[in-house]
Amino acid sequence: MYQQILIRDLHSHIDQTVTLAGWAWNTRGSGKVQFMRFRDGSGFIQVVAAVQDVPAEDFETLRHLGQESSVRITGKVVTSEKAPGGLEIIASRIELISAAHDYPISPKEHGTDFLMDHRHLWLRSPRQQAILRIRHVIIKAIRDYFDEGGFTLVDSPIFTPTECEGSSTLFETKYFEEKAYLSQSGQLYAEAACMAVGRAYCFGPTFRAENSNTRRHLTEFWMVEPEVAFMDLEGDMDLAQGLIQAIIRKVLEVCPAELATIERDTKPLEQVIAGPFPRISYTEAVEMLRNAGVDFEWGDDFGAADETIISEKFDRPVIVHGYPTTIKPFYMKRNPQNGKVVNNMDILAPEGYGEIVGGSQREENMDVILAAMAEAKLDPKDYQWYLDLRRFGSVPHAGFGLGVERTVAWLCKLPHVRETVPFPRLPNRLRP
Ligand code: 4AD
Ligand code: MG
Repeated sequence: MYQQILIRDLHSHIDQTVTLAGWAWNTRGSGKVQFMRFRDGSGFIQVVAAVQDVPAEDFETLRHLGQESSVRITGKVVTSEKAPGGLEIIASRIELISAAHDYPISPKEHGTDFLMDHRHLWLRSPRQQAILRIRHVIIKAIRDYFDEGGFTLVDSPIFTPTECEGSSTLFETKYFEEKAYLSQSGQLYAEAACMAVGRAYCFGPTFRAENSNTRRHLTEFWMVEPEVAFMDLEGDMDLAQGLIQAIIRKVLEVCPAELATIERDTKPLEQVIAGPFPRISYTEAVEMLRNAGVDFEWGDDFGAADETIISEKFDRPVIVHGYPTTIKPFYMKRNPQNGKVVNNMDILAPEGYGEIVGGSQREENMDVILAAMAEAKLDPKDYQWYLDLRRFGSVPHAGFGLGVERTVAWLCKLPHVRETVPFPRLPNRLRP
């Protein structure tokens, strides 16, 4: 008698005979005994097969098993000091499901392009599996944070008729007789949603035709965007800080094995949940850059290098607020005391990762937002539905967007966002 179980549950089956189904990671051994590193998606385990313990045919199968062949293993679960994880399987049967030959990704080093071309197979490696799991837990933590905070998930459309974050990064597509764009942000729709349900969030893929090959830009990325009626910038900062801390708490709690697999030092992450995030103004950040010897003009936007210099001054994410009006989108609320800046904030992650959150209070005054649209050369005719939100019971409101991939990159300390998403879309990569 046997039961098919998962590697992750083996510890509760010690000394029992079980059946596992999965893939051969690698094999080695002699004519007398064969060792196989075996994986089933839930974990890795060592399988030991002695020639006298298994049918001759099974032993031969094992001797000639190519990497990533799929197999069913029956055997006894035993504790072993030498085995990684402390357990191994003493096999009594090895049944081939499907043989694989010449698996392209061997344990030797491969170049990035080669691995990216084989992303569909690369995902099977321990490191990529760990990143996929951490991404999953981050997304779950985001959902839990908002769901438990009284938010309603209100999906925003992907096909949109207008821009939200500037015309230079729009992906255009044919929409029958019309032109449409892939959504750059669900924010404008989230604003409508918060006027209905009070606290809303949208969470989905967003698109930017940014032809910049950097380590933090994707053309398709996932963004969560909460939007809250009657919330100001200060509330927005509190909400974003709470979200980031909730994500880190959950990842530290649920993913110690995955963090160990990718060799992530967790001390800097523990520091992030130890207290509130520092908050500085854009003007103070400019001072910091100048003190660090950067020739920086008030009014310019920060580049990646600038953000690194600013964020390196802190061991937690730093919230930078009050950017120049001229470099920010039309919807941001002008600061009532100083029209040169808006009531916005960016959150810069530590360890050199830079901006992971962008948010603001929204301009709720009809005349002011019409003037801002005119400056941005947007035609109010295209935004009548959005302007209705200012016509019918306009209230102060605020929100932000957190990029999932940049968050995964930071939490996993990855050198590039291409490993943060199962099938990345980059300017030079549409496949697989
Ligand atoms: O700062 P962004 O452009 O803000 C917005 O889109 C607002 N409408 C959000 C809102 O207030 N509801 O983008 C927000 C975040 C960035 O901080 C970054 O984490 C991520 O989205 N992001 C990208 N991630 C990967 N690749 C790109 N090309 C990204 N562009 C933005
Ligand atoms: Mg931004």
